[in-house]
Amino acid sequence: MSGALVAASVAQAAEAPAAPPRPTKDAKGNPLRYAATGHVSNYDEAKVGNYSLPDPLVLANGRSVKDAVMWTTQRRPELVTLYEREIFGAVPATAPRVRAEVVATEPGALGGKAVRKHVVLHFGEGERAVTLNVSVFVPAGAKKPVPVVLQMLFSNPPGIPQLAKMPFNDAVPAEEILARGYAYAAFRYTEAQADNAKTHEGGVQALAYAPGQTRPTPGEWGTIATWSWIASRVLDQLETDAALDAKRVLLVGHSRLGKTALWAGARDARFEAVFASCSGEMGASLARRDYGESLDDVAANFPWWLVSTFPKYAGRWSELPVDSHLVIALNAPRPVFVTGGTEDQWADPHGEFLALVAAGPVYRLLGKGDVGATTLPALDTPLISGALGFHYHTGGHVITPADWAAFFAFIDQNRAR
Ligand code: GCU
Repeated sequence: MSGALVAASVAQAAEAPAAPPRPTKDAKGNPLRYAATGHVSNYDEAKVGNYSLPDPLVLANGRSVKDAVMWTTQRRPELVTLYEREIFGAVPATAPRVRAEVVATEPGALGGKAVRKHVVLHFGEGERAVTLNVSVFVPAGAKKPVPVVLQMLFSNPPGIPQLAKMPFNDAVPAEEILARGYAYAAFRYTEAQADNAKTHEGGVQALAYAPGQTRPTPGEWGTIATWSWIASRVLDQLETDAALDAKRVLLVGHSRLGKTALWAGARDARFEAVFASCSGEMGASLARRDYGESLDDVAANFPWWLVSTFPKYAGRWSELPVDSHLVIALNAPRPVFVTGGTEDQWADPHGEFLALVAAGPVYRLLGKGDVGATTLPALDTPLISGALGFHYHTGGHVITPADWAAFFAFIDQNRAR
């Protein structure tokens, strides 16, 4: 380009009227995001597009998975490896050692309904060591080991002073859960591994670094895998408490912690069941389905959640070797409960339901009931007949009381079988 032309185009650019600001919400109030790939959030079922999902029961070499043994010994490990390499990342062999300490036992907690144990997990040693405060409420007077709800929270668990600023205020129905005969254990997910672009500078991840290493290497854990690993370390501790029935620990997480719960359950079969509330993109909702938050949005806004190579799939969803039906299926045959809200289209509740449907063949192969429908059920009508549960609540991006009630009914039915 000649100098004169460059000057002219610069002048033109300077005179061009500023583009009008792009709306950040659609007419119904759904968030609109404009990804670097050019993708704009879609909320129109007619524009979801066509996609085909990887078959859960076909091995990478094309052979069909004929029975439970083939699933367990061939397809399942193959999928775990794909998820570790391409999506969530693997736990490094150098992950820190953990030491647990019960720092206080408080009878008469929750108005006398519970004994509260304050457990501190210490990760690693030395200057960089990290702690995690866990509150465990055991129903007062429990005569035999009780099952446990383990909830990952955005805020500090009850009994631990709240921070000045909390990203999100969880509804913590500890008393209702205790009244159901469960213990309630909880921790704040960011305490041992932060949730921001600088997370690799500290926390559990930094404790695993080789000398000179400053961030997880490609294929090593993103923070969702780190938080999942932390949940398993809390489970290790719950296993040592004679008041608890550690074979019946239900892992609960909302939103990004719903994503975390699904992967934790996939990796650690000691969790009896998982409740993934409004888990959305890279949680239960299908990534190939163009609705609400997209893979491109996650890759741009939360790259530290996943392996460092994950952003290569932005705009190339069909090249993903997996989709969310497979992280659900990795929990099989254990129960998985998924919820979505009418006012939370960002998380694509319909896409979550379709992922449950697509995980069905694995549950059936393992002798379990699937989600029990192939089309989206009526609102506020839980599907809890099988080992895949679904509830589409009227309301927003929260765990509602009706979600909890449906979840416990779902668990009771699964245990009764
Ligand atoms: C954002 C993010 C979601 C996530 C949610 C949450 O909305 O885009 O993927 O689930 O935060 O964790 O609340």
